[in-house]
Amino acid sequence: MAVRQQRGKGLTVAGGSAIDLEKIEVDCLLEAVYHRYGFDFREYAPASLRRRVNRRVKLEGLPSISALQDHLLRDPDVMNRLLLDLSINVTAMFRDPTFHLAFREKVVPLLRTYPFTRIWVAGCSTGEEVYSLAILLEEESLYDRSRIYATDINEEVLERARLGVFPLSKMQEYTRNYIGSGGRRSFSDYYVSAYDGAAFDRSLIRNVVFAQHNLAADRSFNEFHAIVCRNVMIYFERSLQQRVFGLFDDSLARLGTLSLGHKESLRTSPHAGKYKELDTAERLYRKLKK
Ligand SMILES: C[S@@+](CC[C@H](N)C(=O)[O-])C[C@H]1O[C@@H](n2cnc3c(N)ncnc32)[C@H](O)[C@@H]1O
Repeated sequence: MAVRQQRGKGLTVAGGSAIDLEKIEVDCLLEAVYHRYGFDFREYAPASLRRRVNRRVKLEGLPSISALQDHLLRDPDVMNRLLLDLSINVTAMFRDPTFHLAFREKVVPLLRTYPFTRIWVAGCSTGEEVYSLAILLEEESLYDRSRIYATDINEEVLERARLGVFPLSKMQEYTRNYIGSGGRRSFSDYYVSAYDGAAFDRSLIRNVVFAQHNLAADRSFNEFHAIVCRNVMIYFERSLQQRVFGLFDDSLARLGTLSLGHKESLRTSPHAGKYKELDTAERLYRKLKK
């Protein structure tokens, strides 16, 4: 078959369509990552993946994505750096105060009906979301009969979550979020300042289990009364989103609640029929059928 080189991009098969060489390189890299390290990014949204992979190529001072593949196969430190790039860890305390207010008003009364509740925070990043939930449950006198399972694909962010020290410079913003979420005390009661960090009260994580869990590859590990997975699936392709909804459905007790991010929705999932919307804008769902 005759092929000709296309300027810049790739090769064109005569009479056929352009071959996107960069896509082939990214696909090969993701296969290599999966086979060598078990992290499965093969069904993540491609545009953002490409951007992040190319950024890592530049930062490592390498000539191509294939060269990055070669390096990371042999050097786990390169993999760790790429993992941090790919697993976008942006987060905040009481992120989206209106969501936290809705959780307080609509989910907490349901949780009160159980003698003990298990809550899964999936994709918890550096822990800001977990400390926020712990504060909320403490203020609602529910914390002592709750256990929070906080998971993420990335062990490095979990390590930071266990420490619970967040930038002092963020405390004004987090205080505003806390007030907007219906917070009942003074936000500064929960941390002490040390240099440029705010160290959160260790007792807030007395009922938290932090563990690595990969939503793309690992199974359900318990039955929960509430699952919170916000701003994680937005980075997944539709096929992976559907699998993760299946995993959550397997992991949620009947009458349990599922909380998603503002840009995520259960609506297109085959499981949607089993759920009722508790709060449409805040993406809060309740499972009605097993
Ligand atoms: C943008 S942060 C969201 C953090 C928090 N949920 C929030 O809303 O502020 C996305 C998190 O999802 C995690 N993540 C990405 N892919 C994952 C996967 N396959 N399994 C588990 N966690 C994953 C990332 O490591 C990252 O910490």
